[in-house]
Amino acid sequence: GIIQLRWATFGAPAQVNAQPFMDCKQEIVGAENGNIVNSIQLQEILENEGHTIQSTNDGEICVHVVAKHMRAGKTMLESIQLAYKELKGDYALIFFNKVENKIYAIKKGSGLVVAVTENEAYCSSDIPSILPLTNEIISMQDGDIVVLEPGKAEFYRADTGEKVERKAKVHKETMESAQKGGYDHFMLKEIHEQSDRARDLIDLLNESKFVEPFVSALKSAREIYFVGCGTSYHACQLGSYYFNKIANKRAIPSLPQQFIEEFGNSLTSEDAVVFVSQSGETKDVLNALNYAKEKGCKILGMLNVLGSTLMNISDVYLPIACGYEISVPATKTFLNQAIMFLYMAFRQADKDTSELAELPGLIQKTIDETDESCKEIAEHIKGWKELYYLGYGITHPIAKEGALKLKEITYMHCEGIFSSEFKHGPLSAVEKDYPVAFITAPENVDIMISHINEVACRHGKVLLIAEDNEVLQKYATSFVKVPKTNQILFPLLATIPAQLISYYASKNLDLDPDFPRNLSKTLTVD
Ligand code: M6R
Repeated sequence: GIIQLRWATFGAPAQVNAQPFMDCKQEIVGAENGNIVNSIQLQEILENEGHTIQSTNDGEICVHVVAKHMRAGKTMLESIQLAYKELKGDYALIFFNKVENKIYAIKKGSGLVVAVTENEAYCSSDIPSILPLTNEIISMQDGDIVVLEPGKAEFYRADTGEKVERKAKVHKETMESAQKGGYDHFMLKEIHEQSDRARDLIDLLNESKFVEPFVSALKSAREIYFVGCGTSYHACQLGSYYFNKIANKRAIPSLPQQFIEEFGNSLTSEDAVVFVSQSGETKDVLNALNYAKEKGCKILGMLNVLGSTLMNISDVYLPIACGYEISVPATKTFLNQAIMFLYMAFRQADKDTSELAELPGLIQKTIDETDESCKEIAEHIKGWKELYYLGYGITHPIAKEGALKLKEITYMHCEGIFSSEFKHGPLSAVEKDYPVAFITAPENVDIMISHINEVACRHGKVLLIAEDNEVLQKYATSFVKVPKTNQILFPLLATIPAQLISYYASKNLDLDPDFPRNLSKTLTVD
């Protein structure tokens, strides 16, 4: 069987575009994950040759291309090899035909893994989907074709047809993460796991043999870049603050496409780029990675999914040790990415990292002590259409992350910005009862009070995420009190109420925070 969970890029999410597709004679069935960049040209050629294309999804084109070669008398394997030459872009394709009891799949640029058990054979875009069936998993290489039969997998190179060996690796992760463990949603479970996962990461950083090469690659680099998307990008931004504040070192955070467009021409082989991706499969990140590789940069991977493409192609990688994150909104993985950056900043400065040992306890305390006030704030959010999250300096990435989390799972408009920028435009939105949330780190209280005043004096609602403080208290419509710590650890703890507020707000709106509409956990498309 073939199943494709579609994240609609080309072609509306409609039955006609649903995969798998069949060829005109209904002899071949297939599905695609990826992006065929010459599909329009191929469609024209196919239609001129008499094929009828029914959908607007490029996956259908792949099936017709293979069918065309089969009709010309080629075997399935040969037809896929020929299709490989014609289909441009990055993709993973899977096919079977009416006659053979075999499944064929090919990988080019998109993730594809294989597993064989006694009587079955599987292939899938990612490892977590296969783990409940077996933990012995084979990673395919780009340009590999696999032929699956019950209990058997054979691999061939698409360009030469040569048969090759691919060995299975045993994965130690359990799928305990795939159970809700008594929580209503994975998101809440994953928020509550954060203290334990932070402890796991700190233990790993103290023990792993991969830490030293990572640290020294950063130390010797001419220029350092941190590259990621979405939540992982916010971790990069926080990492950059940590490098500046703790190690007096510049590290440039960047989105992947921005990295190519804005910094690409000046990259050299003396630069180190940390690619940050929970899934390790985000296509945007992998595109930038390939670009940096061509420029000869040192490639460092920070990832959660072991065996992912990012892990396999990094020069050095470090796992963030979170176990699988099931909920689409990233929570525990953000916190561990940020902790990893903090650790790296300490190491760049040759400073003691023992302060990190306090973190698991502080994280738990924050969850326990902020939960109720987050629930209360979430109650109010029901009636709002928009919200600004403001942060200053080191809390700016947390404001952006809080805003991303809220918009992702409540569908309301929410923006996270640097608090001093508010008066340069967005302030015009403020009127009586307009809500603005301020994430205030202990050393920035004075400057933040000026920014809070801009909202308070216009009778806006002031939501505060900060350590207990008498002056701040006077301004607050609602106050989430974060346990006392210091300027450096505060942003990590302040992330937690932002996560909880979003979670409860989503729940109050009767939405499913784990699976927000239009989104996918792993974005394997450009
Ligand atoms: O797997 P990645 O870390 O590369 O994913 C990047 C983003 O798609 C991801 O962080 C996304 O922004 C989150 N789901 C937001 O909660």
